[in-house]
Amino acid sequence: MPIVYSSADFELSPKLSRRNPFTPAQLLSLAVLLVVFAIQVFRSPTLLSEDHIEVSYFGDKTAPPPVCKEPNLFEAPLPVTRPDKMSLLAEAKRVAAEFEYPAEDLNIGVKAFIEQMHEGLQKTGSSMSQIPTYVTAVTNGTEKGLYLAVDLGGTNFRVCSIQLHGDTTFSITQSKVAIPKELMVAKTSKELFSFLAKQIENFLKAHHDDHYQAQIQRRQTVSSPNGFRSAEIFQLGFTFSFPVNQVGINRGTLARWTKGFDIQDAVGKDVCELLQAEIDDLGLPVKVAALVNDAVGTLMARSYTSPGKTGTLLGAIFGTGTNGAYVEKLSNVTKLESLKGSDYDKSTGEMIVNTEWGSFDNQMSVLPNTPYDEALDQESVNPGIQMFEKRVSGMFLGEILRRAILALIKEPKAKLFSDEHSGKNELHSTTSIAEDSALYKQWGLDTSFLSIVAADSTSDLRVVRQTLSKDLSVDAASAEDAEAVKLLVNAIGKRSARLSAVAMAAIVIATGNHLSHGGSVSDDIVDMGVDGSLVEFYPGFEDYIREAFRSIPELALEGEKRIRIGIAKDGSGVGAALIALVAAQADKS
Ligand code: GLC
Repeated sequence: MPIVYSSADFELSPKLSRRNPFTPAQLLSLAVLLVVFAIQVFRSPTLLSEDHIEVSYFGDKTAPPPVCKEPNLFEAPLPVTRPDKMSLLAEAKRVAAEFEYPAEDLNIGVKAFIEQMHEGLQKTGSSMSQIPTYVTAVTNGTEKGLYLAVDLGGTNFRVCSIQLHGDTTFSITQSKVAIPKELMVAKTSKELFSFLAKQIENFLKAHHDDHYQAQIQRRQTVSSPNGFRSAEIFQLGFTFSFPVNQVGINRGTLARWTKGFDIQDAVGKDVCELLQAEIDDLGLPVKVAALVNDAVGTLMARSYTSPGKTGTLLGAIFGTGTNGAYVEKLSNVTKLESLKGSDYDKSTGEMIVNTEWGSFDNQMSVLPNTPYDEALDQESVNPGIQMFEKRVSGMFLGEILRRAILALIKEPKAKLFSDEHSGKNELHSTTSIAEDSALYKQWGLDTSFLSIVAADSTSDLRVVRQTLSKDLSVDAASAEDAEAVKLLVNAIGKRSARLSAVAMAAIVIATGNHLSHGGSVSDDIVDMGVDGSLVEFYPGFEDYIREAFRSIPELALEGEKRIRIGIAKDGSGVGAALIALVAAQADKS
C-alpha cells in the first residue's frame, strides 16, 4: 500500500495561527530558537542535504521512503561542492556521450541485424549462428508430467525437477551451486561434467529418494544393473547455454565457449554424450532427452505460461550473456538440408531457431564502439567474438564501466575520487581508493553495481557513495563523484537496452510481425518472454527498449504497443522440461 500523506500532516501548529498569540516571553524564546537554528544550519552541511531528501520524498507522496541500509556510514559531514565540480561533471558527460546510440544508428543496426539473420539461415560459419533446434512446436500450457532439468550457462549450475500440471501452471523444486572457477577453465571436460553429474545425484537423493532407492535396489538384485523400467527413468532437459551445432533434439557439438568458460577438449564434442557418460558412471536413472539453449527454454516456458491464445514469438536472455530464440518458417531455414541432422516433425512448418545473437556483427560494421569496449575485447579470452554481447550483457557492463571510471580517475581535468581540498578544510574527509580496490581488477566490477547506482534517487546519491565504499573500497566519495559515476552508468545501461531493442525489433520485422493482422487486440499481440538479471533488476531497462522501438519507423508507436514483454523467471528450467517432454513423446511415436 502506498503511504498517503494528507496536507494536515504539514500544517503549522494551531497556536501560531491565532490572532494575537504571543506574550513577550514567548517572543523572546522564539527568537533564541531561531538563532540556534541558524547556527546549526550554517555549521552543518549534512543537515542541509537531509532536509533536501525529505522535501523530494514528500514531494512524491506515493513513492516509497528512500532506504539507506547503513545510515551511519555517512555521519561525517559531506565534502562540500568543489570548485572543480564543473570540470568533473563536464568530463563525465563527455565520456557518457561516447556511449550515445542515436536513432539513426539504431535503425542502421536493425537493417544489418535482419541481413545477418538471413545469412545465418542460409549457411554455416556466418557471424550470427542461427542454429536450428529441431524443436518444431511451441507449447500451449496443456502438457503434463514430472521432468528433470539442469542448467549450465553462467556462474551457477541448477538442477530442478518440474511437475507440469497441464493447466499452464507448474511446480518446481530446485537446487543451485556455484560452479568452481577452476572448473570453468579445467584441463579436461571430464572434470566439469563429472561435477555436474554428482550434483544431479545429490539432488535425486535429497528430493526424489524414492526413485533413487528403487534404482539402488534394482542394481543389487538384477543381473543388468542399467536395466531400469522406463517409468523409473527421469527424462532430463539439459540447458546448455553456449553455442552448439545442434543436429538433433538431444545431440549437438560445442562450437565454442563463451562467458569466460574455456575447456578446449570439449570443443567439437557432443555435450549430451559427455553428460550422459558421467550420469551412467554414477548409475543414475536419468536420460538426457533434450539439449536446450536457455533462450529456447525461455521461449518455451513463456509459451506454456503466457496468457491468451497468441503463441510466443521470441525468448530472450539479458543476463550474464545475451541471446534470443524465435519461431521461424521451416522453409526459411535453408541450411537445414546441408546439415544432415536427425529427422524431425515437419508438420507445423516452423522451427525454433537459436540466433546466438551475442555474435551479431562480430565484423563491427555497425556496432557502436568506444575505447573502453575495445580494451575490454582485446583483454578478453575471445577477442573479436561475441561483440554484440560484449556491449549488452551483464558480464560485460561492469567491466566497461570500470574502464570508463578509471579513465576519469586518470584524466587531470576530471580528478574523480580525489578530494583536493581535504587537507585545508577540516569539514572535508579525505576521499581515498584502497590499493586493492576492485576498480583495479579486471572483471572486478559486478553488473549489480550498475543496477544499484541507476536505482539511487536520493538527492545526494548516498546509496551510490555507500556502495562505492562497500564494493569498491572508495571511501568518502563526494556527491559530485557519485553524480559522475551515475552519468556513466546511465549511458552504459541505456546503450545496452537500445542495442537489445535492435535485436528484438529486427526479429519482429524479419518475421513480418510488425504488420498488424487486424482482428481483436489480443489476437494482434506480439508476445516475448525475457529472463536475466539485467532485464529483471536494471531500473527502466524495458522503458529504454520501448523508447527505442518507437524510433523504428516499421514499429513506431502502434507497433511498440502491440509488443507484450513478460518476464519468464527461471524459464530455462521449465523450458528444458517442456522440450524433454516433446522429445520423449517423439521417441514413443
Ligand atoms: C551466450 C551463449 C548463448 C546463451 C547466452 C545467454 O551468448 O553463447 O548460448 O544463450 O549467453 O546465456
